[in-house]
Formats: sequence, C-alpha cells, structure tokens
Amino acid sequence: MCAFVYNKKYKTMLLAPSILSADFAHLGKEIDMLNHSQADWIHVDVMDGVFVPNITIGIPVVKALSRIANKPLDVHLMIVEPERYIEQFALAGADNLLVHYEVSRHLNRTLAEIRSRGMKAGVVLNPHTNVSLLENVLEYADLVLLMSVNPGFGGQQFIENSYRKIEELAEMKERLNPELLIEVDGGVTLENARLLVNAGADVLVAGNSIFSDGNALENIAEFKKL
Ligand code: DX5
Ligand code: ZN
Repeated sequence: MCAFVYNKKYKTMLLAPSILSADFAHLGKEIDMLNHSQADWIHVDVMDGVFVPNITIGIPVVKALSRIANKPLDVHLMIVEPERYIEQFALAGADNLLVHYEVSRHLNRTLAEIRSRGMKAGVVLNPHTNVSLLENVLEYADLVLLMSVNPGFGGQQFIENSYRKIEELAEMKERLNPELLIEVDGGVTLENARLLVNAGADVLVAGNSIFSDGNALENIAEFKKL
C-alpha cells in the first residue's frame, strides 16, 4: 500500500503550455521563453470557427513557430475534416498531430497517415465522448487527449468527471497500448495537476494557469516540481 502511494507521488508528467493564453503580439518572445523553460512540449490550438465557436491560428503560424521552437509542437486540431490538412501540418513542422474523434469518419486511416508523415498521432475526445469508443483504435494511436473543458476557449472551469475518464483510459491503455500517452487539456491548475497525474495522465496541457499572471517561467517550474 505504502509503496503504491510512493510510486504515485513520484510518477512524472510532461507539461505542455498552451500558447492560446500567451501574448499573441509577442509570440516569438513567448516561444523563446518556453525554449528556456522546463516545459516539455508546446501546445498549439488550431480552431476553425466551425467545429468550435472560435478561430485561432493556422498552418502559416505553426510553420513560423516551428522555425524557432526547440521543443516538440503538440498541435491540437479543433477543425472539421482534419484529414485534409495532415500533409500541410507535417510540412509546417508539427511533431504531434491530434484530431478530434467527433469529426473523424475514418479515424484509423487518419492516424495511419499522420504516422506515415513522421508525426505522433493523437485522438482527442470531447467531454461528452465515451472513452470506450477508442477500444478498436487505441493501438494505432500514440496519444489520447481528453478534453476536460468544452473546446474553444482558454480559462474555463475544469469538468470534474474527467478524473473518471482518465482512470478508465489508463486501464484500457494497460491492456491495449502501454506506450500510449494520456494527455489532459482544459482547466488544469497547480491544484488539480497531481490528482490528474495520479489518475493516469502523462501529459498536462495548461494555458491560463501558466500565462495569466505574467509569471509563466515560474509557473512552469512550479508545475514541474509537483
Ligand atoms: C481549449 C484548448 C486548450 C486551452 C486550455 O479548447 O484546447 O488547449 O488552451 O486552456 P486552459 O488551460 O486555460 O483551460
Ligand atoms: Zn488544446
């Protein structure tokens, strides 16, 4: 029992700051700061105003970021028909490409194509989408990102039943794909981060809790100390 608790406490996680909450007027500076921080990946939210009610950045910006970022770009596509843009995101320098389950008609084919372009392939689930739907595709994915807010905006309140979904996915991962990384995105804070990792999260995305108070570098260090 004690050993179990001990292991949980020291299970490490990767941190992927979401630049959605960064200063878009100084994106170059923000990437430079992240390059020098303890962040592991840089999370980039691409939104089309159709799948989600917001429009953010697109392929040219990802391309520009990849020229200066020295950490993997974790590109979260909140767009319809993501399969149409796989090649372009690969050429733009995305390292991880994540597509939503809810807009993927041929998910197996899409994941295979992402991998064939040399990127890590990820599936994203909205808060209402059941983890069990991944049963037949889990072994073909490198990452699964569980949304813990409704996608579209930073700074929203964490949805509490996400813990249950993480635990369910962690069990499925052990059975079907132990190499899989479980990522959690939305409402992640210094207060809930350790609970999320203990539930089974391997990668935490955080926007507002890293950038909103102007102390991103220190906040990243605090997350990594957990
Ligand atoms: C929301 C995005 C998130 C967002 C998270 O749709 O996918 O990556 O930046 O922001 P916070 O951490 O502020 O909830
Ligand atoms: Zn995201």
